[in-house]
Amino acid sequence: MLKILYKQRLNKETTLYNFYLPEIADRAKPGQFVILRVDVDGERIPLTIADFDREKGIITIVVQEVGATTKLLSLKKDVAGISGPLGKAVPIAKIGRVICVGGGVGVACIYPVARAYKNVGNEVVSIIGARTKETLIFENKISAVSREILITTNDGSCGERGFVTDCLEKLLKEKKADLVFTVGPAIMMQRVASITRSLNISTLASLNPLMVDGTGMCGACRVTVNGKVKFACVDGPHFNAHQVDFSELIARQNAYQKEEKCRNLTR
Ligand code: FAD
Ligand code: FES
Ligand code: MG
Repeated sequence: MLKILYKQRLNKETTLYNFYLPEIADRAKPGQFVILRVDVDGERIPLTIADFDREKGIITIVVQEVGATTKLLSLKKDVAGISGPLGKAVPIAKIGRVICVGGGVGVACIYPVARAYKNVGNEVVSIIGARTKETLIFENKISAVSREILITTNDGSCGERGFVTDCLEKLLKEKKADLVFTVGPAIMMQRVASITRSLNISTLASLNPLMVDGTGMCGACRVTVNGKVKFACVDGPHFNAHQVDFSELIARQNAYQKEEKCRNLTR
C-alpha cells in the first residue's frame, strides 16, 4: 500500500493529496496525469498531476468527490497504487499571451500548465470559476503564476457572477490572445472552443473521457478529433479544441451513469 503523505480538505467536496513518489515527480510534466487505485480490487481512476516537486519527490493531486471511488479515497490513509506519469505533456513555448481557463476541479489541473507557460516568459492570464466562493480552489496558486486573474462564480459570491466562458468572451473583446488552454467540464470546454474558433485563436482542451488502463489498450477513452479516432490517454489528454467532437465526448462520459449511481447507493 502507498501512504497518503498529506491530505487537505479544500472544501466540502474537494481534497488535495500529496504522495511521496520520486520516480513520478522526477518525470512529471505539465498536463500529464496518473491512474490511481484506491483498493487492490477497486477501479482505476485518472487524475491530473496538479503539482510536482522534484527535489522532495512529491506529487499532488486534487480530487472532487463525485462518486463511489473518489468518496472512498477521501476516507483513506493509504491507496493500493498510483501509476504514471501518463499522457502527453502540454507543449510549452514562448508564444505571447496565454489565457488559461479552468472550471471546478479543472482549476487545479491548469496550475502546472499556467506555471510552465509563465516560466518560459509568456504573459499568463487565468480565468477560474466555480459554483460558489466556497467551492473555488487554488485561487492563490493560480494568482502566483498569472499576470492577471479573473474569477467567476455562478452565484456571484466571489468575482463576477456567471461562467468562465462569459468572462473569456468579454476579455477577448479587449485583449488578443495567442493561445487558450482549458480544463473543466466538457460542456464548458465546448463553449470555450466555440468562442475561440470564431476568433481563430489556437485552443487546447484537456479532455476527460472515461479511462480504464490509461495506456492505450482498452479503448475506453476513445474520442474523435478532426474526424479521426484518438485515445485520450496516449494521444492526449489535450487536443486542438476546435477539432474535438464534444457531443460524442459528453455522450460517452455519461454511458455508465446508471451503474455509477447503483455503486454509489451500495457504498
Ligand atoms: P463515478 O460515480 O464512478 O463517476 C462520476 C463521473 O465521473 C462519471 O459520470 C464520469 O463522467 C466520470 N468518471 C467515472 N469513472 C471514470 C473513469 N474511469 N475515468 C474518467 N472519468 C470517470 N477528477 C478530479 O477530481 N481531479 C482531477 O485532477 C481529474 N483529472 C482527470 C484527468 C483525466 C485525464 C481524466 C480522464 C479524468 C480526470 N478526472 C479528475 C475525473 C475523475 O477521473 C473522475 O471524476 C473519477 O474517475 C470519478 O470516479 P467515481 O467512482 O468517484 O465516480
Ligand atoms: Fe484505455 Fe485509453 S484508457 S485506451
Ligand atoms: Mg466510479
